[in-house]
Amino acid sequence: MSEHEMQSNSSTQKKSRISVDPGTGEPAPVRLNDIPKDQDYGAQPEKVRSTEQYQEEYVENFVERWDELIDWEARAEGEGQFFIDILKKLGKHNILDAATGTGFHSVQLLQAGYNVTSADGNAQMLVKAFENAKDHGHVMQTVHADWRWLNRDVQDKLFDAVIILGNSFTHLFEEHDRRRALAEFYAVLKHDGVLIIDQRNYDGILDDGFKSKHKYYYCGDKVSAQPIHVDDGLARFEYSFEDGSKHHLNMFPLRKDYLRGLIHEAGFQKIETYGDFKETYKEDDPDFYVHVAYKDYHAK
Ligand SMILES: C[S@@+](CC[C@H](N)C(=O)[O-])C[C@H]1O[C@@H](n2cnc3c(N)ncnc32)[C@H](O)[C@@H]1O
Repeated sequence: MSEHEMQSNSSTQKKSRISVDPGTGEPAPVRLNDIPKDQDYGAQPEKVRSTEQYQEEYVENFVERWDELIDWEARAEGEGQFFIDILKKLGKHNILDAATGTGFHSVQLLQAGYNVTSADGNAQMLVKAFENAKDHGHVMQTVHADWRWLNRDVQDKLFDAVIILGNSFTHLFEEHDRRRALAEFYAVLKHDGVLIIDQRNYDGILDDGFKSKHKYYYCGDKVSAQPIHVDDGLARFEYSFEDGSKHHLNMFPLRKDYLRGLIHEAGFQKIETYGDFKETYKEDDPDFYVHVAYKDYHAK
């Protein structure tokens, strides 16, 4: 580790693998070799509440199993043509998938003929996504970029749409990181571009406890995904696989109206919110919400 490493989470005394450019103060991308082999939340996992932690959560042996968790076929069935229909209806063709993960949406869009750039801050995820795309007959255009420095890393390119799917935005623990990421998404869009961002229904979890239809996102039938700790600042989920192995994710429980407010304050004047891919839904019922935010000007 370099002398410029910064401590990402003083409460746990765990050292982050992020190294900082001494000139600009900006973090350098975390290289594949710097990602640890196993997850390690230290002695007090519930105290790990850091935006940087995603680099140490998506480790090789979890990334290798991610597709068992989401189950591409079952997920495709649950979502149907939802995202493709929206993009088609809006006439958006050049897409930045900014939370590519293992590539589920990027590959779907490539197969439907879209022009896709696939970005992610985690190099392990991008390696897997590239392999998955190759298995489907595509050469994925990848960019290794943290959302907070997206315009630095995705240079000279504006997109019709930016998608951040699979409950990814929940990885940001600080409000200034959320505002910064949304500003970067706004900046990388064309003047009439759209941002499509989804989230788990954390209001339901915080107010009434966890329930799941097991139909969307995490569809694998040999894996269970459930919260093992929830408070206003943390939802810690456990993913248990058939062979007894367990992995975890520490996430910030974003409330729906709070996120809508942040998106609006980033400059998007019109936001439509769907519940479990439907326009009309009972307020506390959906497992997931999808927000479609428009950059073009909507006078009142
Ligand atoms: C829950 S996974 C979802 C992946 C994929 N979209 C899906 O639906 O399967 C979240 C993804 O967001 C990425 N991510 C989290 N924080 C990030 C950040 N600050 N910058 C860039 N990528 C980030 C992670 O590396 C991971 O690939």
